[in-house]
Amino acid sequence: MCGVVGYVGDRDCAEVLVDALSKLEYRGYDSAGIAVFENGTIKVDKCKGRLSNLVEKMAQDGKPDGHCGIGHTRWATHGEPSDINSHPHGNKRVTIVHNGIIENYKQLKDFLISEGYSFVSETDTETVAKLLDYYYNGDPFETIAKVIAEIKGSYALGIMFRDFPDRIFAVRKDSPLIVGVGEHENFLASDVPAIIHYTRDFYLLEQNEIAIVTKENVKIYDVHKNEIHKELNTADWDVDAAEKGGYEHFMLKEIHEQPTAVKTTITPRITNHMPDFSSEKITAEELKNYNNIFIVACGTAMHAGMVGKYVIEKLARKSVTVDMASEFRYRNPIINENDLMIVISQSGETADTKAAMQIAKNVGATTLAVVNVKGSSIAREADKVIYTHAGPEISVASTKAYMVQISVMYLLAFEIAYANGKITREQCEEYTRNLEEMPDIIEEAILLNEKCQFVASKLINADSLLYIGRGLDYALSMEGSLKLKEISYIHSESYAAGELKHGTISLITDEMPVIAVATQQDLVEKTISNIKEVKARGAMVILICAQEVEIEDSVADEIIRLPQAEQLLMPMVAAVPLQLVAYYTSVLKGNDVDKPRNLAKSVTVE
Ligand code: M6R
Repeated sequence: MCGVVGYVGDRDCAEVLVDALSKLEYRGYDSAGIAVFENGTIKVDKCKGRLSNLVEKMAQDGKPDGHCGIGHTRWATHGEPSDINSHPHGNKRVTIVHNGIIENYKQLKDFLISEGYSFVSETDTETVAKLLDYYYNGDPFETIAKVIAEIKGSYALGIMFRDFPDRIFAVRKDSPLIVGVGEHENFLASDVPAIIHYTRDFYLLEQNEIAIVTKENVKIYDVHKNEIHKELNTADWDVDAAEKGGYEHFMLKEIHEQPTAVKTTITPRITNHMPDFSSEKITAEELKNYNNIFIVACGTAMHAGMVGKYVIEKLARKSVTVDMASEFRYRNPIINENDLMIVISQSGETADTKAAMQIAKNVGATTLAVVNVKGSSIAREADKVIYTHAGPEISVASTKAYMVQISVMYLLAFEIAYANGKITREQCEEYTRNLEEMPDIIEEAILLNEKCQFVASKLINADSLLYIGRGLDYALSMEGSLKLKEISYIHSESYAAGELKHGTISLITDEMPVIAVATQQDLVEKTISNIKEVKARGAMVILICAQEVEIEDSVADEIIRLPQAEQLLMPMVAAVPLQLVAYYTSVLKGNDVDKPRNLAKSVTVE
């Protein structure tokens, strides 16, 4: 949450900062601001609202003219979105931008007030800026080291000291920060998309490493000022990956990228039509021997975990517990060193998921992270990592990340089932071959675009919706419902179809559309009965079902028939129209699809 950037070089700093921030707006978009050295002073421009507001403001007031500075896009935690609470914070001597939460800011603020400091904002960040000022003795490094010894919580900080107009300083703990390395220019950023236009090379800052960044140099030290010589990472993302590429929204582009994302994710993990995680150093033998498997994640990633649970249990006959990370942390879970915890996360920075993983590590359980962002905290802290290769996912509503996460869940399920002797080699090959066909089938599912747009037009006036399904279809309907509500702002719930008559059916009226997912042959009859029950009570029903299901057209008001695929893999097909229906509903309602209100892409607070 919140995006931090920095630049030192020959270019127009304000322009670079704004451009870099535009690639990080997915991390928060309540307000934006930059600070640039101009004629030896620090000039700050900031305001509430989208980055475009800041650009407009600078067009009117004049943008700072300089070559060294820092920038920020905010997702408010302490203090409402307002001009005053926007970053950067500080005074004429020290100015900072911050991503994270300072837990002991109240005590520090009281102390600083007792020392004569006054505060203008409600943010925790201003405390850090003032503390830096308090300790400043002419040596920025010493000052930063003193301050990080006192602050508790998470931080990625970009710092400017008035006395050092040719450099920016950076330090991080529990919030990501990279230092981009260019030719005669260097950068700071929360994430790679911000700098990919300028350079692919970057250093990952580790906990409490302090970076001093000038035009020609990047020096990284530990807190004792021992210089650290780090390996330079190179981003393998396409430069266009962080652009909309002709699509109206990132979400639509990312839906269209799903076939390639799945292919790129599964191909390196398949040898001769068999799952193969040898490059991740994961053996079938070890997967089979864990006592219990826990899958822990948040939001969409948790829904991918639900699909994982169904397929692992179905094929491998091994019990799997799926938890929301925020619940797992506090329910005193029974987990020990013989267990496996699979954590799923697109960003690899989600605070609750990280904390849940730590619980597993503390008891000696093996942790396996399925993560999209390379070098992210979760990826670095897990015992084993399977990287999904979705490329950058910019839209806040996750689509391609979900798709690749479930593709990995399938491969793991096949591997465990085979290792467990629950499926033969031939069956395992057959399932894997079917998975290899999925990119083409997902491509076909995307052709349902127009039908989904039409269905969306029937939903835009609803106040509330219900998604129903059974088994794997229930797992899918959870994801469909989340997708719709987060971007269309229409309330929706997902419900196990069989549970309806135990209470929820009383909500059904002709004003409550129902989206039923029925892709599983053995359960379709049962779901159709539930559809009839809601239809009899006036609900408009949209049915998403397999091509071959024999049903009368009158069963539902609209039927979206999916391209054929192996039944077990149908979630990968049905997810597409669910995403498209949510997308078009949001578009038709005139919402900001890629940046839904109150949300941020990477949830680094609890
Ligand atoms: O980065 P993560 O996968 O850990 O994020 C987890 C959730 O915050 C995320 O999936 C969220 O639910 C999406 N915005 C849903 O579209």
